[in-house]
Amino acid sequence: MTNDMAFAYPNIRMRRHRQNAWVRAMVRENSLSASDLIWPLFVIEGDNKRDPIKSMPGVERLSIDLLVREVTKARDLGLPAIALFPNTPDDKRDDAASEAFNPDNLICRAVRAIKNEVPDIGIICDVALDPYTSHGHDGLLIDEQIDNDETVEALIRQSLNQVEAGCDILAPSDMMDHRIGAIRQALEQQGHENTLIMSYAAKYASAFYGPFRDAVGSSGTLKGDKRTYQMDPANSDEAIREVELDIEEGADMVMVKPGMPYLDIVSRIKEEFQVPTFAYQVSGEYAMIMAAVQKDWLDHETVMMESLMSFKRAGCDGILTYFALEAAKILQNPTS
Ligand code: PBG
Repeated sequence: MTNDMAFAYPNIRMRRHRQNAWVRAMVRENSLSASDLIWPLFVIEGDNKRDPIKSMPGVERLSIDLLVREVTKARDLGLPAIALFPNTPDDKRDDAASEAFNPDNLICRAVRAIKNEVPDIGIICDVALDPYTSHGHDGLLIDEQIDNDETVEALIRQSLNQVEAGCDILAPSDMMDHRIGAIRQALEQQGHENTLIMSYAAKYASAFYGPFRDAVGSSGTLKGDKRTYQMDPANSDEAIREVELDIEEGADMVMVKPGMPYLDIVSRIKEEFQVPTFAYQVSGEYAMIMAAVQKDWLDHETVMMESLMSFKRAGCDGILTYFALEAAKILQNPTS
């Protein structure tokens, strides 16, 4: 390379490779495909029931029969996996999160139904107690504190319960210390050595989860906040330590959450570790885009696709996004 400006313009005109669609395609550095997209879905009790989520326009909680139909569409469009979240009936939530260990809970029944009818898609189950606790926290509240070690014991039971129902990937989202190591050890001991763990390794205490808490029904019940276990949004080095620990403890893949406001974290992690790295475009990010779309302030399709591409450019191997199905449809029939 030369520093001599004489060799710059007009010899170099950066716009040459932007002049038409084919050359733009030829020099494009990143691409998005259906196999990059993971679709989170909310499950409710009942038959033939769909229940819209007000703060997430276009997203519905589904009963298991309807869920299976959506998962079939996801498989047909080439999505590799879905992620399931239950809206547990209120009378089944208690301080001990007992329903999390019930082999016939909503999630286990959903997993079995999907495995039966759509066996060729990956199923990711969340590991955290918040859909099951009466106080809406991800862990067990003992003497007004989230008790790390008691919670980890509960998470092991929840994990094994979900794996026995057929879950392929456990995704601990609780941010307790040492849960990845403890769950990995239990899986090995119980003969589940092929179960994958996608750790929510760097999960921030974020206000962008608000609509999700409406969706799983924990926003009304949540007492206080999650700042004693989820990360401080001001921190970045700490994310590197969290990821390093989770990899050492046996995580197969790591995740950053939320997504768009934290792409700097994704980029650092990918550069440092070169492990499969995912990010979650969370409910509040979806809600922001959809609210502007509904007001005609943003264009739905282009903003959605641009937001997803930004994750790829930052270094993500995949994205958990409520846009997954819609985006996969567009990727199948590209218009531009
Ligand atoms: C709970 C969990 C949350 C999300 C995924 N798992 C919320 C929280 O931590 O309060 C958020 C997902 C989203 O906002 O879309 N363990």
